[in-house]
Amino acid sequence: MNIKRIILTLSKKIIKISNKISNLFLLIVDYIFELLYFTIDYYIFNFMTIDKSIYSFNGRLSEKFPSNILVDITEVCNLGCIHCPHPAFKLSDHYSKKMLDPNLNKKMVDEVHKYGAGITQYIRYTSNGEPLVHPKSYEMILYAVENSNTKVTLTTNGTLLNEKKMTKLLNTGLHLIDISVDAFNEETYKKVRVGGDLNITRKNILKLLELKKNCSANTKIIVSFVEQKENTAEIEDFKNFWVDAGADEVLIRALHSHAGQNLMEIEYNEIDNMKNRKPCLYPWERIILNAKGNLAFCPTDWFGKSEITHYENTSIKKIWSDVFYSDLREQHLTNKFTCEFCKKCPDWKETNWPKESGKSYADLVERILY
Ligand SMILES: C[S@@+](CC[C@H](N)C(=O)[O-])C[C@H]1O[C@@H](n2cnc3c(N)ncnc32)[C@H](O)[C@@H]1O
Ligand code: SF4
Ligand code: SF4
Repeated sequence: MNIKRIILTLSKKIIKISNKISNLFLLIVDYIFELLYFTIDYYIFNFMTIDKSIYSFNGRLSEKFPSNILVDITEVCNLGCIHCPHPAFKLSDHYSKKMLDPNLNKKMVDEVHKYGAGITQYIRYTSNGEPLVHPKSYEMILYAVENSNTKVTLTTNGTLLNEKKMTKLLNTGLHLIDISVDAFNEETYKKVRVGGDLNITRKNILKLLELKKNCSANTKIIVSFVEQKENTAEIEDFKNFWVDAGADEVLIRALHSHAGQNLMEIEYNEIDNMKNRKPCLYPWERIILNAKGNLAFCPTDWFGKSEITHYENTSIKKIWSDVFYSDLREQHLTNKFTCEFCKKCPDWKETNWPKESGKSYADLVERILY
């Protein structure tokens, strides 16, 4: 009787253990297959879809020199917008209230004059902050207009303008002013552009449009709106208001994540981000000169993760065709990243190549300034 019970208990245990082993085995097999599927999917997709006739230097993109140059002239800002990394940047160790050295601006403009003829479509003055906070912003813009031999644009929040400054700005002869507004209603503006007052910004833009008309300046004035859940319902009112007011263009922008650092409303899955991926346009299109005087490859970077080197001891011409950029481009083309910053970033989706159907800021500049 005892022996029977022992045998029974033992067989139950054996069955239990073998069940566990077989479950574990099934789990391992399942995992191996998942991994296999992912790898096959990943390689097949990437090798099949990288079409070098699209993702290469073509159209306005040139291997000789960048087609556009972004100049982030300051790190200081008077607002704290909810979609912008500036509030977090301001609290970080990377923030140093830097203002671009006008000598580096001059060096960049002279380079554009020398190497960018027929290639560089525009120099865009913007910031990891508000460009018009820079005490030499007007002089730097003027130098670019007079010496670069290309179009010059400014992106500003429009809050610091007054009639005297507007006249000074229009007198530089710059080709485009892009004013970020993001709201039609005052309450929404307060929520999105924290620290700002829509009545002041709106009055400034209307005055600027009037001054432009009165002095027959050729400067195009556009207003922009970054779409997010707080303001989506106001897009139509916003467009109608500014078209009626005489803006040359109303630009509705998609929200981006600032290279994955600010994901907010954007859905993100790291594995999905690695699959089905096309190269990001930026390494083929532009270079950034930031307020610290560094050259960088990514316009959505606020924390120095895409800095290449200081501009003082090199040239844009050299860096553009040097090994750093060719290696970065190769990583994007093969989808094999050593650059963790690009690897984890979902913002490549928002970039549009010249042969793709979506429109980019460069297309807008081309359409209204060329
Ligand atoms: C960083 S700001 C610098 C210039 C200036 N302070 C301004 O607000 O126009 C440049 C542009 O980036 C936009 N921007 C900031 N965060 C963004 C985001 N998460 N997605 C899309 N655009 C964003 C701003 O609305 C603005 O039009
Ligand atoms: S979007 Fe412009 S104004 Fe707003 S916080 Fe960022 S830098 Fe400042
Ligand atoms: S992939 Fe992201 S981090 Fe890399 S250049 Fe493009 S936007 Fe910047």
